[in-house]
Amino acid sequence: MSSTLRDEELMAEALKDSRAARRRASPNPWVGCVVVGPSGEILGRGATEPPGGAHAEVLALAMAGARAKGGTAYVTLEPCAHRGRTPPCTEALAGAGVRRVVCGVLDPDPNVSGAGLAALAGAGIETASGVLAGAVEELLRPYLTHRRSGRPFVVLKLAATMDGRLAARDGSSRWITGETARRDAHELRADSDAVLVGAGTVRRDDPELTVRFVDVARQPLRVVLGEATAGARVQPALELTGDPRGVLDELGRRGVLQLLVEGGSRVAGELHRLGLVNRYVFYLAPCLLGGSDGVPLFAGEGSPTMAEAWRGRIVSVERLGEDLRVDLEALQAR
Ligand SMILES: NC(=O)c1ccc[n+]([C@@H]2O[C@H](COP(=O)([O-])OP(=O)(O)OC[C@H]3O[C@@H](n4cnc5c(N)ncnc54)[C@H](OP(=O)(O)O)[C@@H]3O)[C@@H](O)[C@H]2O)c1
Repeated sequence: MSSTLRDEELMAEALKDSRAARRRASPNPWVGCVVVGPSGEILGRGATEPPGGAHAEVLALAMAGARAKGGTAYVTLEPCAHRGRTPPCTEALAGAGVRRVVCGVLDPDPNVSGAGLAALAGAGIETASGVLAGAVEELLRPYLTHRRSGRPFVVLKLAATMDGRLAARDGSSRWITGETARRDAHELRADSDAVLVGAGTVRRDDPELTVRFVDVARQPLRVVLGEATAGARVQPALELTGDPRGVLDELGRRGVLQLLVEGGSRVAGELHRLGLVNRYVFYLAPCLLGGSDGVPLFAGEGSPTMAEAWRGRIVSVERLGEDLRVDLEALQAR
């Protein structure tokens, strides 16, 4: 097997660990690390612990012990070179005597941003980056978006009829989709640090906005755009008003890496119009309301011509019971 293929195979192992840490590491990046010996055998592996806990590299090196000397570490994200709540991982790697460090993507955090690889090179360690970069970038998108823009990765999730309605004329929207799709939406909440709805949805539906059916160590922050009516079941931790861009800045400052927006029509229309959505998740039910008086996916003025319509790419299509889940992104990923 060529060394490039072997690098990819071992980075894929580190990705598995990275994925497993997804829901516990935030607001830190969910990193995976695999340490292999000089002849390529896996000696240790690790994934980021909850905030304040050990980083992936440290855990993998501890598992490998003295045998890490002369080996290679595969890390999904560039190792940190600064002292945060834990000592720099670059020091741990150099101290263990590894010969080579391969990472998936560079860390855009201003504290790292190339300094990790530079520190390793300074310690005489061979470095490489960009291995399985596409897959690593996809997994770490919320963290990378947050560090690049200061704002969360925004996922807009809406359940719609096949004729593009969020609710019927009377405002009722329960339930458009079946149980399988609704349970899947709880997985999306579990992946998110905060869940946001508009005050209109609170007034109409009074959603709980909690993760159910999925085990999570902590519930996402519940955010209402506008003022929630007193006595509503949802107990928002935060009620934010004003320009949605300012709202995203505020959530970014609070360490929200992924924000799940769950409607309604006005909030969705506003975020879409302002180009603030990173990923659209549509649950489409085999149901038609007919007519033109149901609640549209996006309220407000739309594109005046077909030529100016928003065009994206389909990231994935999945069948969930009787419904479909379609994930979309802008052609130029933000
Ligand atoms: N199918 C689905 O997935 C789904 C999901 C959610 C909701 N829904 C349905 O959608 C309907 C509710 O949608 P909606 O359009 O009436 O309400 P909405 O989008 O949930 O909330 C709109 C309200 O949010 C507040 N707000 C504050 N800042 C805003 C901003 N920058 N842009 C827009 N709104 C802002 C305003 O409250 P104030 O007026 O108090 O200022 C505004 O009236 C209901 O029928 C509900 O059942 C369906």
